[in-house]
Amino acid sequence: MQEKEGNTPMERESRLVVVSNRVGPLSDEGKAGGLAVGLADALRRRGGLWFGWSGETSEAGTTSEAKTEVEGDVSLVTIDMTEPQVAGFYLGYANRSLWPLLHYRLDLVRFDRESERMYRDVNREFARRLMEHISDEDLVWVHDYHFFFLGDELRKLGFRGRLGFFLHIPFSPPEMFAALPAANDMVHAMLAYDLVGFQTQNDRRNFANFCKHELHGHKEPDDYVRVGDRHIQAKVFPIGIDAESFAEFAASDEAEENAAMLRNSIGGSLPIVGVDRLDYSKGIIERFTGFERLLEDYPDRIGKVQFMQVAPLSRSEVEEYVDLRGEFEGLVGRINGRFASLEWTPVHIMTTGLSRRALAGIYRAARVCMVTPLRDGMNLVAKEFIAAQDEADPGVLILSRFAGARAELAEALIVNPFATDDVAAALERALAMPLEERQERWRAMRDKVFANTAAVWCRNFIEALEKSGSAPSGKGV
Ligand code: G6P
Repeated sequence: MQEKEGNTPMERESRLVVVSNRVGPLSDEGKAGGLAVGLADALRRRGGLWFGWSGETSEAGTTSEAKTEVEGDVSLVTIDMTEPQVAGFYLGYANRSLWPLLHYRLDLVRFDRESERMYRDVNREFARRLMEHISDEDLVWVHDYHFFFLGDELRKLGFRGRLGFFLHIPFSPPEMFAALPAANDMVHAMLAYDLVGFQTQNDRRNFANFCKHELHGHKEPDDYVRVGDRHIQAKVFPIGIDAESFAEFAASDEAEENAAMLRNSIGGSLPIVGVDRLDYSKGIIERFTGFERLLEDYPDRIGKVQFMQVAPLSRSEVEEYVDLRGEFEGLVGRINGRFASLEWTPVHIMTTGLSRRALAGIYRAARVCMVTPLRDGMNLVAKEFIAAQDEADPGVLILSRFAGARAELAEALIVNPFATDDVAAALERALAMPLEERQERWRAMRDKVFANTAAVWCRNFIEALEKSGSAPSGKGV
């Protein structure tokens, strides 16, 4: 294995192998989601192997020949899925069962045994294919709700090395998680990992309580959980961003051009921005209901503010996302119809993605950024908005109390997205906030965003994984 100069002795011991459904891009220009952004940064710094789905379907599916791309010290190895695998594993189980369940939306959850079977099969298949590329000396780090069973499958295939798992999204309370027909099996399978990481204390507690109350386990000191003969660590690692690079993006020519375009298009209005995948967990409907209330309750703002919502379409094959799009466009149409004049339109929406440099420019031009999910693992938009600000004139972050980022970004204006009046009042307060207060709040948040970066997150997780457990156990569960 190649060693990178400057790595700590611990990092030199083993190669990092990352597994996630989406792989890449490694360059930070794409329209990548939170997971890809965090991991690309970590892998670029450390080197290693990144294994996952190619994003393509083929008849051979998970038995297709692996595609390998090498970029610097990182190899990206991907395999296809068949159409039924994508339908059952990704669209079905991952996105219609687990995603709503873990975001506290039992009302949207669909359980279907065929999808569950496919999810288990795909986890087993990915484990089998990964075994071709790894050895027990590697440190294997599996990501997110697509691969809860993968670690257990690796153990069954004889993998004896260190095995970690990080959940990027929330873990719902045990009473809710228990609604999943495979709940017990799934948490048992999670115990095959040596270390399980969560975004917040709340998520970790929910997991540990499930182990305790549903699986007759025990919580032990130092974040250990014991269930039967399994003894694993469940710890909190709040994910960060590559703050330096993002701040550089925000000062780039492309960012400045986009900021200028935004300013030109809105004239003298104060820009409010939102940037979210079009997903029901993001609270977009509640946000615009709050914006409409602002225009009703604070009519002086009519004609003086403009909302720019960037909402790239996501998982459009899933019915709930199609419904959300209709509801979102209907609500925005209503607000525009109700308040627009010949020279002013209150809401501008874009459902195409933007490059990260362009986004950085939009954040920098914004007076207010609304990050108001109903439930979110972390939310990196909040951190990117902070990193992109100009110290001389920083914007204000309005942040949901239900975003994982709230634990760190306490100086934001914290709102309950369900409380429409509070959202409107927070918007008014943000729009009226004097420069000095904006700077004070921003500096406090900037320090945290620049201290707990993606690189720190990665290092902390890997160090904990190196230390966790005793020797590689090789035990299935
Ligand atoms: C969230 C999840 C990621 C996922 C991303 C985009 O950030 O934690 O695992 O990749 O959303 O969703 P998609 O379904 O397009 O991969």
